[in-house]
Amino acid sequence: MADIQRVGVLGCGLMGSGIAQVAATAGYETTVRDVSQEILDRGRAGIEKSLGKLVEKGKLQPADRDAALKRLKFTTVAADLRTVDIVIEAITEDLALKNVLFLELDGLCGPGTIFASNTSSLTIAEMAGATKRADRFVGLHFFNPVPVMPLVEVVRTITTSEQTFKRAFAFAASLGKEPVAAKDNSGFIVNLLLVPYLLDAIRAVERGVGSVPDIDKAMQLGCGYPMGPLTLLDLVGLDTTHHIAEIMFKEYREARYAPPPLLKRMVLAGMYGRKAGKGFYDYSSNPPIVSNLGL
Ligand code: CAA
Ligand code: NAD
Repeated sequence: MADIQRVGVLGCGLMGSGIAQVAATAGYETTVRDVSQEILDRGRAGIEKSLGKLVEKGKLQPADRDAALKRLKFTTVAADLRTVDIVIEAITEDLALKNVLFLELDGLCGPGTIFASNTSSLTIAEMAGATKRADRFVGLHFFNPVPVMPLVEVVRTITTSEQTFKRAFAFAASLGKEPVAAKDNSGFIVNLLLVPYLLDAIRAVERGVGSVPDIDKAMQLGCGYPMGPLTLLDLVGLDTTHHIAEIMFKEYREARYAPPPLLKRMVLAGMYGRKAGKGFYDYSSNPPIVSNLGL
């Protein structure tokens, strides 16, 4: 289990709760921090549901589920992460917000603590450079849903030391994940390729190339993808996708990363996808129905 024993996770949303779950299941004492008790309670309920599913499928023993839940602590106080060996940041995709937290923890955590960001689109250099531990800073990019997706991109920026990279890589493997090394370019490997595809699917909706379910069905049945792009966008979160597109467009100045106007309108309307109950599909119905997009 490498030399890491205590894990801190910043953010208990879609990704933070999943990362905390896999860390606790792998045997790490895990403290997860978000800004309100209500969000933490929602995150904990999601973790319990996910662990329950794994027990139901026979992939996890009930005793291991109980042990994992015991290793999890939930807090609204960032300073409670002061004694962890690795901090994994999974808060909203906003550089300023992330760096405020990294700066605060930089002054609290010991010199051996690794800082890692689960960012989808920011460069690790933008965060590492704001701290005094740029050599102990990496990207650890997990995939949604974290308990199910095997990949973690381990990202080394210019300042990351060899020792930190190796510790982070070994840590990702100790979670039962398949780590790959990725360069510190916006979007790393997966999002460099995936984000233009997802944004193009929104442009296809805007152009009326097909209906929302038909675009999804076409990519599922025509290409063997596990879910269509619009269902996947609802899973990722349209607010998060909008942040990602803005950041990647600013970085590369290429039209394929530009956020489509429909994406912006949906975000303004609070249609963030599955987590908000509504995105391209309305999840208040079972099975979900297509949302009215005003097209
Ligand atoms: N916790 C535990 N188990 C879960 C789960 C969760 N949160 N979600 C799904 N599962 C399990 C199910 O119980 C099921 O288990 P069995 O195979 O043992 O039956 C299995 O996962 C498959 O689930 P479902 O049958 O419900 O549905 P599915 O077959 O459609 O699979 C899926 C769901 C795994 C999400 C699949 O649709 C998929 O792989 N979708 C694509 C996901 C993807 O592309 N993710 C990457 C997003 S991009 C990103 O993350 C990067 C970024 O920066 C934005
Ligand atoms: P989310 O909206 O589900 O959760 C973000 C959480 O961060 C919220 O609970 C919010 O309250 C919390 N937060 C905001 N400011 C905070 C602060 N100062 N301290 C603690 N918590 C704070 O978003 P998400 O989908 O979990 O994304 C989180 C990060 O993971 C982003 O950087 C995103 O780009 C990245 N990511 C997302 C996905 C995905 O599919 N959604 C996949 C990989 C990586």
